[in-house]
Amino acid sequence: MFDKYNRKINYLRISVTDRCNLRCVYCMPEEGVTILDHKEILNFSEIVSVAKAAVGKGVDKIRLTGGEPLIRNSIIDLVKMIGDIKGIKDYAMTTNGIFLDKFAHDLAKAGLHRVNISLDTLNPEKYKQLTSGGNIQKVFDGIQAAKKAGLEPIKINCVIKDNNQEPDAVAVTKYCEDNNLQIRYIKEMDLEKGEFSIVQGGTGGDCAICNRLRLTANGMIKPCLFSDLEFNVRKLGAEKAIDEAIGNKPLSGHVNHTGKFYNIGG
Ligand code: 5AD
Ligand code: SF4
Repeated sequence: MFDKYNRKINYLRISVTDRCNLRCVYCMPEEGVTILDHKEILNFSEIVSVAKAAVGKGVDKIRLTGGEPLIRNSIIDLVKMIGDIKGIKDYAMTTNGIFLDKFAHDLAKAGLHRVNISLDTLNPEKYKQLTSGGNIQKVFDGIQAAKKAGLEPIKINCVIKDNNQEPDAVAVTKYCEDNNLQIRYIKEMDLEKGEFSIVQGGTGGDCAICNRLRLTANGMIKPCLFSDLEFNVRKLGAEKAIDEAIGNKPLSGHVNHTGKFYNIGG
């Protein structure tokens, strides 16, 4: 489907949980993270019906995000349910990689095509600090497991403060070159201040060619990351919520007061 600015909307990002096993400083505050009540979270059949409705309207690219998608109970079942929908050409997941070692094989078997993995530094201490306790070795193991499972091309999301010549970014770049991984630099953003920028090496952040819709873990279709507009799939039904979101997709985004990245899926 096309929106009123003639942008073809063919990409749906689905946040399967607002929870995360890490606490990256730029994403989640260490305290005061509001988590959704279990009954607010869409169940698998609700998520699948939104995905099906979206595919029926021309979506052919789906990404599962979080929070951290791999901490949702029985995530492999959901990956398979969505993977079985006919018409999806690109089926990806964004993960912090900690549990990929455990799940990569089953994800590939369930029909997932590829993964994007977050990695901002190669320094174990710094990683621990940045993520509030994460073990970087698990990420390295996860990356190797994803390779082995054929979840490729593997993209590494590297959050930078300012530019890709920062020492951490240079080190991650080298690691990606050595390991045959694609790197994407994402400038740290402040959603509430409406600070956003294009993703170098990716397609995000360029309003003129934005092809996305988002489904939040609690069932809101959001037409834009930098707008508070949202349409409730439980209230409106999937079809109507998607139509409204596409019909009201803003030309460009400004600010977002409703959420940090962890509940809207980045
Ligand atoms: N700025 C930029 N990127 C962010 N992410 C989360 N919070 C922010 C932020 N404030 C992105 C990171 C991470 C992905 C899951 O979400 O790229 O890799
Ligand atoms: Fe978790 Fe990803 Fe947010 Fe880090 S950036 S806290 S890994 S959701």
